[in-house]
Amino acid sequence: MKLFIDTANLEEIREAASWGLIEGVTTNPSLLAKELGKAGAPVRFEEVIHEICRLIDGPVSAEVTSEQAPAMVEEARRLAAIHEHVVVKIPMTLEGLKAVGRLSAEGIRTNVTLVFSPTQALLAAKAGASYVSPFVGRIDDRSGDGMELVAQILQIFDNYGFPTEVIVASVRHPRHVLEAALLGAEIATVPYAVLRALFAHPLTDLGLEGFRADWERANRPG
Ligand code: E4P
Repeated sequence: MKLFIDTANLEEIREAASWGLIEGVTTNPSLLAKELGKAGAPVRFEEVIHEICRLIDGPVSAEVTSEQAPAMVEEARRLAAIHEHVVVKIPMTLEGLKAVGRLSAEGIRTNVTLVFSPTQALLAAKAGASYVSPFVGRIDDRSGDGMELVAQILQIFDNYGFPTEVIVASVRHPRHVLEAALLGAEIATVPYAVLRALFAHPLTDLGLEGFRADWERANRPG
């Protein structure tokens, strides 16, 4: 399973890139809005996207904000021109799927976002989406079962051999990553704090402490 980082924060992306484990980035307008204008950060969102593409050698999702298909297509072409890593995020609407069809015919990769039902994912795949992003956390927040949605989408894509990849999104905790991996989802896009939590286990720390103490004792002079 590929791990993407779900952020537009350049410091987090720089740090995550240094681990050598992150293979892509997802952003959205809310994540970008938090970063623009921060001290030392680029002021134009195109510059942020370009810098992210420089840092990570993999797909970088950048989202359109237009609502009608022709405007989405225009915006998507501009986003795709920023860097070859850019994948254009398109919202799961009827207009969005019209845009996905046109962009896919032009060879522009798309990530259909805000997917909350298996039939939405089916339509996105039929339209030619490269990726679909089911938002598991937002479903769980409303006492639904986000992972059940992921399982259904994977089953549908497998039934018909769709090449569309599933990005498990709106990840809230390591258990979401575990369940995505157990289901065989191609990708999980994970916030920085949750990625950090994946590394940690108190027994690892305790074990290390014990090894160090024993080693120091054995090597103490005299
Ligand atoms: C995915 O591509 C989105 O950016 C993201 O996962 C949304 O997550 P949220 O529900 O935490 O906003």
